[in-house]
Amino acid sequence: MKTAIVTGATSGIGRWIAGGLAQAGYRVTLVGRDSARGEAAQKWVTARAPGSETRLRLIDLSSLAATRAFAEEVLAEGRPLDCLVNNAGAFLGTRQVTAEGHERVLATNHLSPFVLTEALLPVLRTSGAARVVNVGSSTADRGVIDPDNLELTRGWNRVRAYRQSKIALLMVSLDTAQRLKGSGISVNVVHPGLVATGLVRERGVTGLAWRLLGNFALTEEKGAETPLFACIAPELEGKTGLYLKRSKAAAANPVTRDAALMARVVAATERLIGT
Ligand SMILES: NC(=O)c1ccc[n+]([C@@H]2O[C@H](COP(=O)([O-])OP(=O)(O)OC[C@H]3O[C@@H](n4cnc5c(N)ncnc54)[C@H](OP(=O)(O)O)[C@@H]3O)[C@@H](O)[C@H]2O)c1
Repeated sequence: MKTAIVTGATSGIGRWIAGGLAQAGYRVTLVGRDSARGEAAQKWVTARAPGSETRLRLIDLSSLAATRAFAEEVLAEGRPLDCLVNNAGAFLGTRQVTAEGHERVLATNHLSPFVLTEALLPVLRTSGAARVVNVGSSTADRGVIDPDNLELTRGWNRVRAYRQSKIALLMVSLDTAQRLKGSGISVNVVHPGLVATGLVRERGVTGLAWRLLGNFALTEEKGAETPLFACIAPELEGKTGLYLKRSKAAAANPVTRDAALMARVVAATERLIGT
């Protein structure tokens, strides 16, 4: 039986990705951080895919120590991992710093996926044909990144923090894809579309704007289609370093063509995670 890990599987797009993988016959580990939401999501997935094997792990992914501890647990089981979906994401209204000293949006959207992917490489390798799917955002199609200010100690605002975290995720994912060529592990980034989810949790003008946008947005089920395509589609076998929108390769932010900048973003990420 193939195995998959889906982060942020307790709501929104992630729940549908977990459901789709369970229906496709994967043994899915749902990663969430709240037991009630987690158990509800696990029940929901089981109802969609009767007889499927699922399990739930509760982890605050804004903590790199908790991310590493989870990876250790997976490594200790020694099973090959066929699919890792780094889907959990945060959009916050205020600048918050985690107990480990990291800006929370960057930690959740970029640092934790990088730490998890790197830590799980041994079990991804033993799969023979593993897929890492990182859920990015078209917000990152434009805009710049400052590798010397990834945590936005200067000039934080909610959109900039979200965008820069997703640009960093994109750049480092493409770099990882390049580094892992020939290893049997593919790394692709997907934009799910504008999807009516609870991603923006604050009230006020931003929350209202998000809820209004929801009228024009995809359903969560539709939003899971491109991520699931990246996980499962046979035509993507061995394809790596892609940025996918609507299940097709798309042009990524031009900053990804600046090799020197890519190297600086990778180095800044490694510094932040302490490697
Ligand atoms: N919706 C869109 O239009 C859109 C567009 C482009 C990209 N995306 C990306 O799609 C992904 C899924 O987002 P969504 O729209 O489905 O929003 P969502 O419903 O808010 O889902 C986000 C998921 O991430 C989890 N999460 C957030 N912070 C976490 C943490 N510190 N530790 C563990 N889990 C955490 C949430 O868990 P809880 O349930 O416990 O909060 C939730 O399950 C994100 O990466 C987002 O950036 C969304």
